[in-house]
Amino acid sequence: MDGRDLVRSVKAVGMVGTARRLRTVRSSWRRWRADAAGLSARNAERARVPGPVTKVEPGPGGGVVRFARSELRVRVTTGGAVFWGWDGAEPEPSYALACGSPEPDPRAVLEPDKEGGWRVVSERTTVVVSRHGSVELRTPGGVMLRRDLPPRWWEPAGGGEARWVQRSEVAADARFFGLGGRSGGPRLRSGTYQLWNTDPGGSFGPGDDPLYITMPVQMVVADAGTHLVFHDNTWEGAVSLREGAVGAGSGHDRAGACEVRMDGGPLRCWAVVGTPARVLHTWASLTGPPALPPTWALGHHHARWGFGSEREVRRVVAGYRERGLPLDAVHLDIDHYAAHQVFTVDKERFPALPKLARELRESGIKLVSIVDPAVKAEPGVELYDSGVKAEAFVRDAAGRPVRGVVWAGESVFPDFTDPRARKWWSGLYEERLEQGFAGFWHDMNEPVSFAAFGEATLPRSARHSLEGLGGDHREAHNVYGLAMARAGYEGLRSLLPEKRPFVFSRSGWAGMQRYGGTWSGDVSTGWPGLRASLSLVLGLGLCGVPYSGPDVGGFDGSPSPELYLRWFQLGAYLPLFRTHAAIDAGRREPWEFGTEVLGHARVALDERRRLLPYFVTLAHLARRTGAPYVRPVWWGCPDDRALRDCEDAFLLGDSLLVAPVLEDGARERAVRLPRGRWYDTVTGRAYEGPGRVRLDAPLSRVPVLARAGAVIPVRGDGGVELEVWAPVPGGTGGGLLVADAGDGWEEAELERFTARWSGGRVLVEREGAEGERPVGLPVRVRGLGD
Ligand code: NOJ
Repeated sequence: MDGRDLVRSVKAVGMVGTARRLRTVRSSWRRWRADAAGLSARNAERARVPGPVTKVEPGPGGGVVRFARSELRVRVTTGGAVFWGWDGAEPEPSYALACGSPEPDPRAVLEPDKEGGWRVVSERTTVVVSRHGSVELRTPGGVMLRRDLPPRWWEPAGGGEARWVQRSEVAADARFFGLGGRSGGPRLRSGTYQLWNTDPGGSFGPGDDPLYITMPVQMVVADAGTHLVFHDNTWEGAVSLREGAVGAGSGHDRAGACEVRMDGGPLRCWAVVGTPARVLHTWASLTGPPALPPTWALGHHHARWGFGSEREVRRVVAGYRERGLPLDAVHLDIDHYAAHQVFTVDKERFPALPKLARELRESGIKLVSIVDPAVKAEPGVELYDSGVKAEAFVRDAAGRPVRGVVWAGESVFPDFTDPRARKWWSGLYEERLEQGFAGFWHDMNEPVSFAAFGEATLPRSARHSLEGLGGDHREAHNVYGLAMARAGYEGLRSLLPEKRPFVFSRSGWAGMQRYGGTWSGDVSTGWPGLRASLSLVLGLGLCGVPYSGPDVGGFDGSPSPELYLRWFQLGAYLPLFRTHAAIDAGRREPWEFGTEVLGHARVALDERRRLLPYFVTLAHLARRTGAPYVRPVWWGCPDDRALRDCEDAFLLGDSLLVAPVLEDGARERAVRLPRGRWYDTVTGRAYEGPGRVRLDAPLSRVPVLARAGAVIPVRGDGGVELEVWAPVPGGTGGGLLVADAGDGWEEAELERFTARWSGGRVLVEREGAEGERPVGLPVRVRGLGD
């Protein structure tokens, strides 16, 4: 079978053949029938609100406030995060929390407030509970950040899961961010955002919603302060946002509003208040530090759906080598599997994969494998039989494995919410390691089952273990990808304990960063798609998932040379820098777009390589502090309203501001600067923020600015060097370096450098216990009028 055959066989999501079409019709029908039989219809429902306070029981970190028809537990924890849960909801069990709930803060106590209400005062926030059950989150100075109105439940009269709605108000000037990977952000405008991980079933652009990663995590930024709220509930739901309006002159302010609706599950919430950096730090300590990618994963990756043979892989790799273009990883898609069956190499087209992997490794290139969850339902085939034996597959209400249709045809789906299934799956990566793969790309794990009608996923009635507690797909769907990532990550940790696993996953949920990163999925090729891909990276970073990036060039079709180049230039500054495209799309190698584009792409690749020590440092900082590598421009000054609305630029760490070109034909662009002095890194010219400046953006580069005083570790000819940008006169600066060139677990040391003016020149020193020391690394000072 060659590439063209594959195109034919998978066109229109593999549904070209009549047999396949029939299979998806049958599968959709089965799905519909299963839900009709397995889920009880929602008949009469009874609405409930908490009612008035009846009793209060102080407890560690807060206590329980009892109402006539519900109760509310409030608990401030030692890291400063606040938990509140209705109807007896506790922090656990939770798929998001890394190590359960932090300890209650013994200093926080429940005390009477005005008008029969109660409050818990703590170092970072005050929570005020009114006598009818509204909950206010205030700054330590008492300014309101969020007011949750008393929640409302709808309980089925015949018993069963209650739906609930939580309405909240935020400040008139507040902006919403997060909710997972959203294409229309990063600022989430007024509208409804679904909470149901979804493959849009084709490539997506701005406004397509929901996508592969949804999570009930919102970051809300207002003049009064920044807060994050997380509704720890995996059920299907929706968040409706309405941005407020600040009244001009004598006009009134209109508060912002948020409504979280869930189809079931607990009403419980975590809230964190502080600066954005502080909020993300606390969030990462709750949900787990982001996995540290091996250093090679911070280089350039080239993927392709449809390499089709080892020869083609070698041809593309040789193309990079002959042109002297850096390449660090090659990704093999489903076409290297026999009949699309996961963990099963197509020996005809890839007869000597371990040899290919070894050759690539010797030239510094790692091989990454796609891994899909669906297993072809074929009795007699080892993979399927071993899964059946391990009782690993999702079942229906009658106890039969749920069948769906994916690339390999009729398939079954591991239940990753079952620890035993995870264990079985974990072991399967041994085959991948034997083939020589060093990294893993989890795909189709929303999970997808192709559908001729209705939704392309499993029936909502499908049964899941949910860690032994039992439940159905309505509750398990959103954590399917997260639990698969866990299985892969844990498998690799035990199969190859000395290496840091590299796993990135299309779908996921709060906490997925513990196991790895993600990519932006099938983003559509076009200027709007380019913009959407930046929105996803920024939004996910604010939800605690710092490692991601788009398919450079877009997933489908053929980008114009200019679009490809602008995407490439953006990708060079994102954590995952990967070219990839669909099997029937045009090529994405940098030399396929003419010599001019090749020249400029080479500059971007070389710059990425030069910045590698900085990227490695940012990866370590993300692990230690939760701060994403890619941050919104308001990160350090969330009180700057104009910056809050700036969506077309980002900070890369503390030191760089990247202003990608997102418009066809643009050769200059406006850039909004945070306060302080910023240098154009190419011309060296200084600009003063806050404010808007116009910068040249010739085809050869996108504007990148360095903060005055920044000390940036870069790769020089002889190893790491420090690029230092002159502090403002009389000012100081600094930077960090974590020198880690590997993929193991050795704890790399964090080194701090300072920069200051001394005797008319910029002096750079290494901070140490004994005071400042010489840096011991080559230093190049810039911004001195160069
Ligand atoms: C969908 C993924 O999003 C895409 O990246 C991949 O190439 C195809 N599946 C085929 O595996």
